[in-house]
Order: sequence, then C-alpha cells, then structure tokens
Amino acid sequence: MKYYLILISILIFSLIACKQENSSSSQRPAVLTASDAHSFARPEEVVTTHLTLDLNMNFDSKTITGTAVHTIQNHGADTFIVDTKGLMIEEVRLDDSDKSVTPLFGEEDAILGRALKIPVSRKTKTVAIKYSVPRDAAALGWLEPVQTAGKTSPFLYTQGQAILTRTWIPVQDSPGIRFTYEATIHVPPGLMAAMSATNPQQRSSDGVYRFKMDRPVPAYLIALAVGDFDFSPIGKRTGVYAEPPVVEKATYEFADMEKMVEIAEGLYGPYLWDRYDVIILPPSFPFGGMENPKLTFATPTVIAGDRSLVSLIAHELAHSWSGNLVTNATWNDFWLNEGFTTYFENRIMEALYGKEYADMLALLGYQDLQKTVEDLGKGSDDTHLLLDLGGRDPDDGMNSIAYEKGAFFLKRLEQAAGREKFDAFLREYFESHKFQSMSTAGFVSYLKENLLEPNKLDINVDAWVSGSGIPADCPVIESDRFVKVEAVVKTFIKGTPAADLPVREWTTHEWLHFIRHLPKDLNQRKMENLDATFSFSRSGNSEIAVAWYELAIRNTTPDNNYAVAIMPQIEGFLTQVGRRKYLLPLYRAMKESGRLEEAQRIFLASRQNYHSVSNNTLSELLGV
Ligand code: BES
Ligand code: ZN
Repeated sequence: MKYYLILISILIFSLIACKQENSSSSQRPAVLTASDAHSFARPEEVVTTHLTLDLNMNFDSKTITGTAVHTIQNHGADTFIVDTKGLMIEEVRLDDSDKSVTPLFGEEDAILGRALKIPVSRKTKTVAIKYSVPRDAAALGWLEPVQTAGKTSPFLYTQGQAILTRTWIPVQDSPGIRFTYEATIHVPPGLMAAMSATNPQQRSSDGVYRFKMDRPVPAYLIALAVGDFDFSPIGKRTGVYAEPPVVEKATYEFADMEKMVEIAEGLYGPYLWDRYDVIILPPSFPFGGMENPKLTFATPTVIAGDRSLVSLIAHELAHSWSGNLVTNATWNDFWLNEGFTTYFENRIMEALYGKEYADMLALLGYQDLQKTVEDLGKGSDDTHLLLDLGGRDPDDGMNSIAYEKGAFFLKRLEQAAGREKFDAFLREYFESHKFQSMSTAGFVSYLKENLLEPNKLDINVDAWVSGSGIPADCPVIESDRFVKVEAVVKTFIKGTPAADLPVREWTTHEWLHFIRHLPKDLNQRKMENLDATFSFSRSGNSEIAVAWYELAIRNTTPDNNYAVAIMPQIEGFLTQVGRRKYLLPLYRAMKESGRLEEAQRIFLASRQNYHSVSNNTLSELLGV
C-alpha cells in the first residue's frame, strides 16, 4: 500500500515536472545559469520573458526614440539588470507603481557598455523604459539615398550579433536569454519596414508597422530594416525583399530557396519559423548574410547573376536550426552556431547540386581553415573551438576556426558513426533542445551519451574542442575537379596562352581554386593575359573579383605593377562594398605590400559607406 502511494506520488510529480518542462521550452524561456562574460544581466534573478517595442525612426536626425516594455519573471530579487551601450534613458516605469523609478547605471566598460539597474518589487510584472538612441549607435546602418540601389530614399538596417543589440534597445543581451517580442515601428510614410518577425508584404499607408515574434529568441536576433523595398514571392513560404532595381535579379538568383527549405527539413526536422524570406540590403551591409529569424539579411554581393553564390542562403537557412533553434550559450561557444551551420550548409548544397559540387565548397573551406591556423599560429588558443573571450570583444573570436574546424569536426563524427546514425543524432539534438541554449560542455556530454558511447566510437573529442590547430584525424576531402584545375594552372605557367586553357565548363568554385593556386609571383604579362581573357577584374562575381584583386595587390614587385593597372577597379570596389570579409583581405594585402598610405587614403574616403562593424576592424588594421 505504502509502495503504491509512493509510486503514485512519483508519477504525479513527474507528470507535473514534465508539463512544466514542456511549457518552459515553448513559452517560458530557458534561463542560462552559467554566466556570460559579455552581458551584465543576471537572468537567474530577474529575466525578460517578452519585449514590446514602440519606436519612431527619425531619418532626418538618424535617431530613434521610443519605449521598450519588458515583461519580467522575478526569481526573488530587487533589481532588474539590462545591457545598454550609448543609450539615453529618459524614464523607467513599473506596472505596480504610480511613480517612475530611478535606475542606476553601472560603470562604463569600453566593450560591454553599461548595466542599467532597475529597482523592482516581487510584484512587478512589466518594466517600461523610455529611451533614445544616438546617431552613432554601433548596430545601426543609416544610409543616405545615394548609398542605396534606388538612389531616392534613405535606408536603415540593424545588425545585432554579437553584442550590438544593446546599442539600440535596452535589453538582456546574452545569447543564453530568450524572449518573445512584438514591435510597433513608425517610419516616414512611403517606406517599407521588415523585422525578424511576421512581416508585411505590402507598404502601409501611414508608415506604421506592427510585428510579432512569438517564439523565444535571443536579443542578437532582433533585427529591423526600413527603406524603399518590395516583396517578391519565390515559393509558398519563401520570398525576397529588395529595392525595386534589385528585386527581379534577386528573385532569379534565389529560385531554389523553397527547395532548400524542403531539403533542410528532410535532413534535420521541421522548419519551425513559418516563413523563410531574405532581404537584400544595400552594399554597406558588413556581412554576407545574417540569420535573423524568418528574414535573413543579405549582402547584394551574393547576387552573381548565375546563382553561383547561393550556398550563402543555404548557410543562413541552416541557422534556423543551428543557432536560432539551438543557440550558443555564450560567445565562447560560437562554434556551436557556425560550425554546425557550415556542416549543415554543405549537406544542403550536396542534396541540391551533388557531392562533387559540395566537395569543392568544403575544400575551399578547408583552405580557409589552413590559412587561419597559419595566421593565428598553430599553437594559438584562438584556434580552439571552445574559446575564452572574457575581457575581449567577441568579434575577435569570429573567424574560420568556428566555421571550418567546427564543420570538419562534425564531418569527422559523421565519418565515424555513418551518415544515417549521425543524421538521426542531429535531428534528435535539434528536437530535444529547440528554443534553448547550449554550451560546449553540454554538447560534449550529449554527444558522448547519445552517439559515441552507444556506438562505441573512439574519437578524441578533446583534441577537437580544446586542442589547437587542425587535429590529426581531420577528414580529407578529395576533388577530381580541383585536381584538374591544378593541372590547368601548371599548363598555363608552362606557357599555354589563357585562351587555350580547357576551362569551358568551370564553375565559380573552380575559378576560385584556380586563382588561389596561381603562383604568388606571376609576371605582369601573364596576369594581363589572364585578365584580358577572363575579365577577372571586371567580374560581376564578387568572390572571383576579390580573389583576383588580392593576388594582384600581393604580387606587386619592381617588374610587376599589374595592381596599379587595375587600381581603379579595386578602388571602385572598396568604395562601394562594405562587406568585411572582402574589405579586410584587400586592405591587409595593401598594408603588407607597401601600400599602407594608399590604403589609408581609400579607407578614409570610403568609410562613410561602411557599417561600424567593418569600420572598427579596418581602423584597427590601418591605424587611422
Ligand atoms: N552569423 C553570421 C554572421 C555574423 C557572425 C555576424 C559573427 C556577427 C558576428 C552569418 O551566419 C555568417 O556566417 N555569414 C557569413 C556567410 C556564410 C556563408 C559563411 C558571412 O557574412 O560572410
Ligand atoms: Zn553563420
């Protein structure tokens, strides 16, 4: 009898516990207890569960004014702490008090900004912060009409990752804290607005837009774009937003998007964000793409005209699982976002365009990894997957290590377990951790328990996660097509003229491999011959153009001044495009080949076309 009672009470207790767990994964955000060195928030004390924004976008002054209302859950503390950087706080009100409360600012940290400490009571349910955002807020790209494709209207976009959301919203800015959000955004009539939320497909007549994100997301995934852009559908749950002169090209370029979503779902489970749309931003956007939920933000340089760079879309889409569903707990765990996503991206590309194609992409990635390890030093701690970014800007840890070493680690696991088992493992990983954050230690123990031990796999996980350089068991990718490219490089060097090279069927990736494999001291005549034949320096394919420009710049010797000949094109590119991945290697090449002053001059003349993310990196590189 007694046993029955105990059994029944255990049963009832576990049912309740289960129920709570379920509701916490879908409604109540998972609270991070391990601390995040890049946020002042103390979610174990008071945590945001929902955020309501009401913001006015003032294009004349390039400022934002409005309120952020936090719905909070108080675990028994008297202070609610949010992150801010550069924000002007005008008033703070609680729902359980008639008077406004006086918040305290913590000490200013050059990287993190300031904690805003708001006194609350056990009964406080909402905290309303009235504030304004100065025009130099680091997250914001305010563009003049001339900096857009249409040249007639201004544009604004935000970039939150890694810790920039606090520069335009007072918020608990840690990837381990998730909340739902809604927003009312006021823009000049005639302009369109879109967010990482449910989006309009038509413009409003009064310039007021309402958005809702009803799944909990971390602060770095809140995003907004305002400008003269239209929507164009691709499939039933996919489409593109772009400025009128770009929208048709974008629709053509991304024709495979609906198929990509289907493939991704087939691999790792249902797409849980309803729609998947992409917005093409003006060229100053500092990244190739940013995986804002429901609405990827993308650079116009992805539009090559022949769909050859769409792996970028596969990448951002893959983040809908790795990153947006299961999120790195802190920026030290960044590889859990990017390594998984790079692996997943490659699987989508393989399913869509075949293994040969995917292997070329993976090999280019491996080359990037080798180069990054060389640059950082084989023994550098920054070549570990698990990083230690405390006291540093998380941006410092955001290089190919997380992406490529992370992806090759997963390839290694796939190789050991076999594809079928590994895919099932990943599907279950996403399903069982959806809308939660994950630390490296958490993943490693999940991996051991659910894949390595049951299958008796012997993998040196530690060497991958906490060791430096490229582990000895890193899978080797072979590509016949790249072997052929290397043979063509040899023929060319021996004297075959460019026009006689067998390159007719080449894809963008073979061209990239070709340019990367040209000797660093190719003479001017040969460079001219290549360019005259293949028009690299006028290529509409940004990857090819940049690879060629870098080679030309690095290859400046007394008897080779080819870079001087194509400097107008290089300078034109540097003035127009703000994508950091392109700017950095070109400016660095200039600096390292005796052209620092020229680089400084071009940078100073172009920097108003770059977002703060690119500006900060370049200003450090060039010392201006
Ligand atoms: N999430 C990243 C962009 C990012 C990383 C923003 C770190 C801020 C800090 C995005 O998914 C990404 O990786 N973009 C790449 C393209 C991709 C195809 C590798 C980029 O921008 O080049
Ligand atoms: Zn990514």
